[in-house]
Amino acid sequence: MIRLQGVTVRLGDVEALRDVTLADDARTLAVIGDNGSGKSTFARLLAGLVPAASGTVDVLGLDPARNVDELRRRVAVVLSNPDAQIVMPTVAEDVAFSLRPQRRARGIRKAQPDAAAAADRVAAALDRFGLTKLAERPSHDLSGGQKQLLALAGAFVRRPDLVIADEPTAYLDARNARRIADHLFEDAGHRLVLATHDLALARRCEAAVLFERGRVRAIGEPGDVVAEYEASLRC
Ligand SMILES: Nc1ncnc2c1ncn2[C@@H]1O[C@H](COP(=O)(O)OP(=O)(O)O)[C@@H](O)[C@H]1O
Ligand SMILES: [Mg+2]
Repeated sequence: MIRLQGVTVRLGDVEALRDVTLADDARTLAVIGDNGSGKSTFARLLAGLVPAASGTVDVLGLDPARNVDELRRRVAVVLSNPDAQIVMPTVAEDVAFSLRPQRRARGIRKAQPDAAAAADRVAAALDRFGLTKLAERPSHDLSGGQKQLLALAGAFVRRPDLVIADEPTAYLDARNARRIADHLFEDAGHRLVLATHDLALARRCEAAVLFERGRVRAIGEPGDVVAEYEASLRC
């Protein structure tokens, strides 16, 4: 699913990832580490949002730097701040926006669901995330938890093969954090990369990677990796 070989990512003068080599085939991968350790950079690299300065990256068999269109089609990104992810005035329109036709580099339109199929998919996504009754409500009037459910509906309506979630529960109360996590962990045929400071959530993943100052400090069983992180906190 994910293979990195000798990857360095530079952001301005900072080496946000340094010589990262890892391979992971788990369905769900937790990404943990201190603030500034490189979690978001790793997430953005996998999503094709930042380039590697050196090394090779393989996500779902694709090179994110070269296969931009296919990666965008197969990968969905969920961020911490639900407000930043809302683009349309109403809940239903916002979910439908995720299914809009996407232009390719050469101006060719990809196959898209027809209008009726798209409407069915939007309705199913609203239902799955408990938003049906809110469909016509202004998106920006939703609560924080509801907004994050809306962000998930927009991500999942595209039936992604991989969901990359960067601290998706950071701004939520415990109840909403649990709801969002449960949706992310539902096996809907997608893989999950989950950057989080919630170590209980990290333990729910099949594998975990611990970053420290842009390098991989540990990767493997979440229990072991979380224990290593907790031990490092006592130093
Ligand atoms: N846009 C940017 N320009 C320069 N440096 C950045 C930028 N974004 C992040 N960094 C730096 O890259 C490093 C890794 O950041 P980040 O991946 O956001 O860490 P995390 O998500 O684990 O908090 C940090 O040193 C951070 O200050
Ligand atoms: Mg981050």
